[in-house]
Amino acid sequence: MRLLVAGLTGQLGAGLRALAADDHDLRLVAVRRPGSPRALGPGEAEEVVVGDVRRPMWGLDPAALTGVDAVVNLAAETNWVASSRDLYAVNALGAAHGHQLTRELAGRGGRVIPYVHAGSVYVAGGAVGEIAERPVPPAGDRTAYERSKWLAEQRLLSAAADPGGPAPVLIARMPALVGDSGTGRTLRRNSLYLLADRWSDLPGNVLPAMRDARVDALPRDVAAGTLLRLVRAVVRRPPSGPVICHAGLGETAPSLRGLLAAARTAGAQRHRGEPRLVTVGARALLWSSLNAERVLPLGPSARNALIGLRYIGLDRVFSRPVLADLLGEDLPAVGVDVLARLIFGAAPNLRDDPAGNGSMARFPG
Ligand SMILES: NC(=O)c1ccc[n+]([C@@H]2O[C@H](COP(=O)([O-])OP(=O)(O)OC[C@H]3O[C@@H](n4cnc5c(N)ncnc54)[C@H](OP(=O)(O)O)[C@@H]3O)[C@@H](O)[C@H]2O)c1
Repeated sequence: MRLLVAGLTGQLGAGLRALAADDHDLRLVAVRRPGSPRALGPGEAEEVVVGDVRRPMWGLDPAALTGVDAVVNLAAETNWVASSRDLYAVNALGAAHGHQLTRELAGRGGRVIPYVHAGSVYVAGGAVGEIAERPVPPAGDRTAYERSKWLAEQRLLSAAADPGGPAPVLIARMPALVGDSGTGRTLRRNSLYLLADRWSDLPGNVLPAMRDARVDALPRDVAAGTLLRLVRAVVRRPPSGPVICHAGLGETAPSLRGLLAAARTAGAQRHRGEPRLVTVGARALLWSSLNAERVLPLGPSARNALIGLRYIGLDRVFSRPVLADLLGEDLPAVGVDVLARLIFGAAPNLRDDPAGNGSMARFPG
């Protein structure tokens, strides 16, 4: 299988590259943007093409791309406090441009080519309870990042609406991504790591969260393996219309309390004391994660930390019957102890790229 992939240098891309290294049936064509701060290692992609997802057709010449079985979009602006303009250009326009490119490749090759888009469970915004694998309605409580991922879905759903079109769309909504389950290596330390890194900075040790808050997260290798199985499923049996699935732990995601208890059992935070979970309602959590900067002088790191609260503090389940339809019974499963070890045990020096690129590496390590 030959995949054209944008975003191969990112966290999820690192998981995919690791899988490709051991899978001779998997060949990757990497779309690299000019001036990228990160390099691919020798042999990590069969071919590298220079492109930018912000440009129509990703700035690529479809005539020069042959033998592609699926197009996979992992490219994103993942800095939650990036400008709305950048978030829109990379996340929403980039998604639509990728579909346009896939359609062109399919037309030229005279065959169906699926387009697999890495979405985010966080398009749900501030919704709590059971979140279905369906389009989510407009809402005023989304962050700029969440809005850009939501707009990407909207654009893809309308672009791919024609049944039996040559470029069927699968939107795989990813959960939080943590480091490799074996090595612990991570590209950056996102909201979950932030909980570990800033544990002792919590004012009064207080961590506000809903009583039954859950944390849906996958190690990047497990996430990439799940995504790859999804790609194979839609290449084998292209869906007749756009499909959305949740590619995380769903109903098996641990509670925040369970995760903290596992960290405690592992002794990971012994020297730092315990955060006190204080139960708050969803509205208070959502309001403060969006608006605290209006009343407090907050830098980007603190604003990200506040936004991160909604990814660990809300009580919701990203249900996954569509994922089960696509993958069968073998759904992603990760024990709470593994997540606790990765999040609370991994030291900052396990980063892939200590210099970072100003994206989520903005979090102090
Ligand atoms: N990480 C999470 O916790 C999480 C959670 C939910 C959903 N997701 C979703 O999963 C997907 C992958 O996330 P990730 O964490 O792997 O992201 P990431 O680590 O920030 O990587 C982003 C990738 O996109 C590339 N990129 C950015 N702008 C580009 C452009 N204009 N043209 C081409 N490539 C561009 C980057 O290339 P450079 O190396 O050149 O910067 C990098 O390879 C994204 O759709 C994200 O929204 C992630």
